[in-house]
Amino acid sequence: MTVRRKVAVLISGRGSNMQSLVRACAAPDYPAEIVLVLSNRADAAGLDFAREAGIATAVISHKDFPDRASFDAAMDAEIRRHGADLICLAGFMRLLDSAIIEAWRDRMINIHPSLLPSFRGLKTHERALEAGVKLAGCSVHFVRPDVDTGPIIAQAAVPVLPDDTPDSLAARVLEQEHLIYPMALRMVAEGRVRVEGDRAIVEAPVE
Ligand code: GRF
Repeated sequence: MTVRRKVAVLISGRGSNMQSLVRACAAPDYPAEIVLVLSNRADAAGLDFAREAGIATAVISHKDFPDRASFDAAMDAEIRRHGADLICLAGFMRLLDSAIIEAWRDRMINIHPSLLPSFRGLKTHERALEAGVKLAGCSVHFVRPDVDTGPIIAQAAVPVLPDDTPDSLAARVLEQEHLIYPMALRMVAEGRVRVEGDRAIVEAPVE
C-alpha cells in the first residue's frame, strides 16, 4: 500500500500548478495527498477548483494581521491542524519570514518560472527576453529565506523563440511547470531527495 505524505498547497491566484498536483494525487500509486489548499486571497480562482475536488480549503488574509510573523504563525497553525507534513508553494505571492521557512526546512517546496539561479523574483519572462537568453524554463526547489533560492530538485528547459512575448514564453514554461511539480513532489514524498549543503541529491526509485 502506498504511504501518502500529507501536503498543504499555498496559492494566491489561478492555481494551475495546484491543479496539476491535485491531478497527480488522483493516481492510486502517487505518494502524496493534498489535505489543504490555503490562500491568502479569498478571490483566488484556484480555491473553487479545490472545493469542487473535495479538498479542504482555507483563506487566511495577510491583511488581517499586523505583521508577517503573526500571519505566518496563523498559516502554520492551519497547516498543522490539517496534519500536513509537506508544503508546496504554488503561485503563493507573499514573502515568508525565516521562522516558518526554517520550521519547514526541506519540507517546503516552491516552483519558480525560470532556470534558477537566473531570474529570481518577479517578471521572469520579461527579463529573460530582455537578456536574450535562448533557453528559459522552470525550477522546483526547497525554500530558503532568500527569495527563490534553495536546493534545486527539478528543472525543465524550453526554447525561447524569436517572436516570443512574455505571455507566449510564460505559456510554454507553464506546460513544463505542470509536469515537473508533480514529478518533484513525488520524489520528495518518496524520500528520494537528500539535501547536501546547497544541493538536492535525487536517488533513483527502488524497482
Ligand atoms: C507560476 O508560473 C509559478 O511558477 C509562479 O507563479 C505562477 C503561478 O501560476 N510561482 P498558477 O497559480 O500555478 O497557475
